[in-house]
Amino acid sequence: MSTHLIRISEVFSGLVPEILGILGAEKIKKLGSEYFLFHTETPELIRDSSAARFIRWHIPLEHSWPCNPEKMENFIEKAAQTIYYKFESRNPQTLLVGRLDPGSPKQYYKALASNFRGRALQVFELPEGLPKTAEQQDPAKETLFCLVGKEGLYCGVSSPLEAGGLHPGGTKFIAQNTEDTISRAGAKIAEGLHFLSMHRRLPKKGAHWLELGASPGGMTSELLKREYEVSAIDRAPLDPRLANHRNLSFLKEDVAEFVPPRSIRYDAILSDMNGEPQQAITLVTRLKDFLNPGALVVFTLKTTGAETIADIDALESDVLAITEQNGFSLIARTHLTYNRQEFTLFFEKA
Ligand SMILES: C[S@@+](CC[C@H](N)C(=O)[O-])C[C@H]1O[C@@H](n2cnc3c(N)ncnc32)[C@H](O)[C@@H]1O
Repeated sequence: MSTHLIRISEVFSGLVPEILGILGAEKIKKLGSEYFLFHTETPELIRDSSAARFIRWHIPLEHSWPCNPEKMENFIEKAAQTIYYKFESRNPQTLLVGRLDPGSPKQYYKALASNFRGRALQVFELPEGLPKTAEQQDPAKETLFCLVGKEGLYCGVSSPLEAGGLHPGGTKFIAQNTEDTISRAGAKIAEGLHFLSMHRRLPKKGAHWLELGASPGGMTSELLKREYEVSAIDRAPLDPRLANHRNLSFLKEDVAEFVPPRSIRYDAILSDMNGEPQQAITLVTRLKDFLNPGALVVFTLKTTGAETIADIDALESDVLAITEQNGFSLIARTHLTYNRQEFTLFFEKA
C-alpha cells in the first residue's frame, strides 16, 4: 500500500467517486477543495488508466502533519526542521510550497506558504545555482513539493514531469480579470504553454500560428504578447482592441471554407473551436499540408455533454484516431485551471 495526494478540478466533482474507484483508493480524505489523500495498492493507475486525465497533479505522500497551523505554536520552525531531517538526504533540486485551497481569499495561508518556504530553504542550505523559481526547475529532476492549509502540512518528492506541473498543485495562478483581459481563454493558452514547456521547446518568437475559432481573441492577445505572428479565423469578429495589430491578420469566415495561400507553412495551430470535437479536429488535420515538419498543434477537446468517464474516453479515442491517421503524435494532455468541461491536448506533426 502507498499513500498519494492527487488534485481533481471541482469541474469533475461529480466523477470523483468513479475516479477514486478506478484507482483502487482506500481511506480517502478530502483536503481543501480539490485534493484527495488516499491509500492504494495500484498507484500505477494514477498515470495509466481512464482516470489519469482527470488528475491535474499528483505526488506520493511521504510526510504529513495533520494539524491546524493557525493554532500551532511555532508551526513554521517545527515544520521546517522536520522536513529537513526527513528529506535532506534526497537532495531535491528545490522545495516549493503551495496551498491546499489556492482559491480561498484568506491571506493567512498565502503568507504561511511563502514564509514556510523561506525558512525551509534556509534550513536546507540548498547550494547556490539551484532553481529559485518554479519555472527554473529541471522538469525531470526531483523537487520537494509541500502543500499547507487548514488541514496541516502534506509533502512528497517528485519530478515536475511526474507530478504533472512545475508548481505545487499544477500551474501558476494567472489573473484573468484584469482590465485588458479579452476573454477567460487567454489564461488557458498562457497556462497551456507553461505546461508544455516541461515537455518540449516552445515555438520561437516570430513563429507563425494559425488560430482556429479565435473570437473574441483572449488567446490571440496572449500569442501576440509572446511576439508570435498570428493568422486568426472565426465566424465571429475579434475584439476591437486587437484591430491593426501588426503581427495579426484576421479572416471572418467558417474554418471549413478556409483555404490557406498555397505556399504558406505554419509553425503551429491553435484550435479552441466549440462544437463536436471530431469535427473540430478534422478541420485541424485537414490543414496538415500547410504545416512545417515538427509543427505544434494545441487543441481544446471540449467534452460538454459527455457525462461519464466512458463517454469522455470515447470522445478522446475518436480524436486520437483522427490525429494518428493524419500523422500527428500526442505529446501531452492536461486539464488546466482555466479548462472547464474540456482538456488541452498537444500534438506534433511527424
Ligand atoms: C470558445 S470560443 C473561442 C474563444 C477564443 N479562443 C478566445 O480566446 O477568446 C469558440 C469559437 O469558435 C468559433 N468556431 C467554432 N467553429 C467554427 C468554424 N467552423 N469556423 C469558424 N469559427 C468557428 C466560434 O465562433 C467561437 O467564437
